[in-house]
Amino acid sequence: MSEGRFWAVVPAAGSGTRMGSELPKQYLTLLGKTVLEHTLQGLLASEAFQRLVVVLAAHDPHWQSLALARDPRIVIATGAAERCQSVCNGLVRLGEFAAPHDWVAVHDAARPCLTPDDLHRVLAAAQEHPDGALLAVPLADTLKRADAHGRVDETVSRARLWRALTPQVFRLAPLHDALQAALAGGLQPTDEAQAMELAGYRPRLVEGSAANLKITQPDDLRFAETLLQHRRPS
Ligand code: C5P
Repeated sequence: MSEGRFWAVVPAAGSGTRMGSELPKQYLTLLGKTVLEHTLQGLLASEAFQRLVVVLAAHDPHWQSLALARDPRIVIATGAAERCQSVCNGLVRLGEFAAPHDWVAVHDAARPCLTPDDLHRVLAAAQEHPDGALLAVPLADTLKRADAHGRVDETVSRARLWRALTPQVFRLAPLHDALQAALAGGLQPTDEAQAMELAGYRPRLVEGSAANLKITQPDDLRFAETLLQHRRPS
């Protein structure tokens, strides 16, 4: 295992317009707590991380009402219009106290169903793979490419295709540099692995549970509720 402490950056600065709700999706209620609280408590419970950097929208009016806002293990950064820029801001904040070779796990605030086992496995894989690691799920469904009229244009082979999830775990300095380079080049990588790929790295895919869903549509909240209910000790 290679050296370095672990930190987490949690982008939580999205507006979640696809949910059709006034509240950003990270503040919707799931079994009596916000989605964001479930996500942060899952990361804190692992005790793997020195601290968590939570990236909030500028003038976020909701954060201060959570008890976690007073947790000394949590540090705040301010987000931006795109997720990649929000993550970058979180990494800059983290750079104020973490070392360049430390590990950073970036995990979406909108993924409250991460299991301790998946978290453990992706952190362990990152330490064994110099280019970092991410949770992902191999595609199970047949893939269709649509034409402009919503008809099937072609069937796309799903061989070797995966859906990228989070956490995605990389060394702090290479990840920061890769994201900065992508942004400077006018690109907006939709995950950290894409920025690393653009910089020439080949991150390791770690098969995770499809239950680690990202709350995106109203239905997802109900799925997440069912999943978390089944995990509760009886
Ligand atoms: O919008 P999307 O589902 O891709 O968001 C994934 C995560 O990134 C969410 O937790 C969201 O709050 C965060 N995000 C962010 N800054 C943005 C957009 C999204 O921190 N500008």
